[in-house]
Amino acid sequence: MTTEKATTTADPTTTAMIELHDVVKEFPGGVRAVDQVTLRVGRGSAFGIVGHSGAGKSTLLRLINLLETPTAGRVVVGGQELTALGERQLRAARRDIGMIFQQFHLFRSRTVLGNVAFPLRQAGHSRAEARAKAEEALRFVGLEEHARRYPEQLSGGQLQRVGIARALATSPGVLLCDEATSALDPETTREVLDLLKRVNTELGVTIVLITHEMGVVSAVCDQVAVVDAGRIVESGAVQEVFLSPQHTTTKAFVRAATKASPVFDLLPGLLREHGVDDSVVRAVRAQLEGGQPELRTERTAVGI
Ligand SMILES: Nc1ncnc2c1ncn2[C@@H]1O[C@H](COP(=O)(O)OP(=O)(O)OP(=O)(O)O)[C@@H](O)[C@H]1O
Ligand SMILES: [Mg+2]
Repeated sequence: MTTEKATTTADPTTTAMIELHDVVKEFPGGVRAVDQVTLRVGRGSAFGIVGHSGAGKSTLLRLINLLETPTAGRVVVGGQELTALGERQLRAARRDIGMIFQQFHLFRSRTVLGNVAFPLRQAGHSRAEARAKAEEALRFVGLEEHARRYPEQLSGGQLQRVGIARALATSPGVLLCDEATSALDPETTREVLDLLKRVNTELGVTIVLITHEMGVVSAVCDQVAVVDAGRIVESGAVQEVFLSPQHTTTKAFVRAATKASPVFDLLPGLLREHGVDDSVVRAVRAQLEGGQPELRTERTAVGI
């Protein structure tokens, strides 16, 4: 499940929507935020990138639409090499790449409809066209009745749905999500993740989502890559990586996601109810809490 393996085992029948070839981003002062990353995201895929704070996730995401210029390497989106384009062509190519952010980044002085219509007006649509398309996008996210409101009148979840409507208004083929649910409570997070899933399955938009939570990846994505210090340390199908994490960083993320799941609280009680020996229950709990070595000791002790 290394990058190399993921590249060679990728389904050759799916065309690539996004390709990064040996991409490096070095900031002034010598910080290598992204270090020699090669990545392929299939058309129509939902691709999660997980990593700790400072691992280089946002930089990696911003390299896909060239909001960050790579120090080295090539970026190809929809078959077009963005790293070979001039400024004007790049602006046009970016219209096919929507983006949403943790802090929503909406205009406070514009209505919900005004916010969603904004990129359409920028792209040269008439006022009437922009309005019609913006209304359609707001219907998709279930906010058509809030079109005349201002951002300050909406909840966090609603604001992110406006962000999604704005990103989708120009009908992009790709949606980049930078910690889109990190500012939201668990229930609202669930709603927004369900919506992103619909964006992927119903509209066929290719999604790249970065997060520090494996649970977010499993709710939306089919593929995942784990980044550590600017490098991809593991990648593959979400289920496979979840069930059999190889790298220490991946293991930590999977463990954290398991802990956050209701199973974590319920399992020990269930085992006890079914007459499982206390020492085994303790061993299971130890593993859920992240204590691999303790489990091994317990395993030996109870002979399982
Ligand atoms: N504009 C910049 N100038 C200099 N260094 C930067 C810049 N942007 C990011 N970095 C550095 O690059 C590294 C990766 O940052 P990045 O924001 O991509 O991480 P991240 O994984 O998104 O973190 P977080 O989860 O906290 O958002 C960090 O060491 C950061 O300090
Ligand atoms: Mg970030």
